[in-house]
Amino acid sequence: GASGHIHDVDFSFEGPFGKFDQMQLQRGLQVYTEVCAACHGMKFVPIRTLSDEGGPQLPEDQVRAYAAQFDIYDAELDDTRPRTPADKFPAGGDPKAPDLSLMAKARAGFHGPYGSGMSQLFNGIGGPEYIVSILTGYTGEEKEEAGTTFYANTAFPGGWIAMPPPLSGEDVEFADGHSNELHHEAEDLAAFLMWAAEPKMMARQHAGFVAVLMLTILSVLLYLTNKRIWAPVK
Ligand code: HEM
Repeated sequence: GASGHIHDVDFSFEGPFGKFDQMQLQRGLQVYTEVCAACHGMKFVPIRTLSDEGGPQLPEDQVRAYAAQFDIYDAELDDTRPRTPADKFPAGGDPKAPDLSLMAKARAGFHGPYGSGMSQLFNGIGGPEYIVSILTGYTGEEKEEAGTTFYANTAFPGGWIAMPPPLSGEDVEFADGHSNELHHEAEDLAAFLMWAAEPKMMARQHAGFVAVLMLTILSVLLYLTNKRIWAPVK
């Protein structure tokens, strides 16, 4: 159909040995901050996590400087003050733009086929792929309905989204010199939102792998024990 088209992306964090790419997360943070944050908040994510291991791992002085750009109302002071790393990211400026803290887990890119979940087993749930597909899925067509402008989008369910195309390529200048073509910006941003929604994903995948390995070893031992126990009977 014209809508709901999601393309797969090989993210570094997929699979049992997957890892977030620190530089990619830093680039995604930059896209989020310079473009998306004008409308979307991330009000559930503590700013201090930007220095956590496995995340963007910004040095602590940079995290303090990052936090200080955003004011927050402090009830104790009865005044605003600059944020500190202990505060969360600000809420967004546009009440119609959903908070992005958990967006990469709230949306599924892959389904089926026919409810079997096979596509999800092999490709993952597809939240970050959905985000990439939205950001790169604008056709350029617009329509006006009840005073709101809608933009044709090949990934958004229904095919028309109220978000104007936020990225067109070359929207930010990456400090590490990485390409700022549209699909690179979109993938970096989506990786960053995946980390924001599930910062401990690497630890979880690793623990899952170790659990499967131990269960496999246990199965072999039980099989051998079973054979030994019944050997005299045969
Ligand atoms: C919706 C991402 C920039 C306004 C959304 C959705 C995502 C998203 C994932 C949700 C789609 C869904 O509900 O499934 C982003 C990213 C941005 C960005 C990654 C930066 C690259 C902006 C900007 C604005 C904006 C700058 C305001 C000018 C909106 C609005 C919606 C929305 C109003 C609701 C659309 C609807 O439900 O039809 N955005 N956005 N976004 N965004 Fe953005």
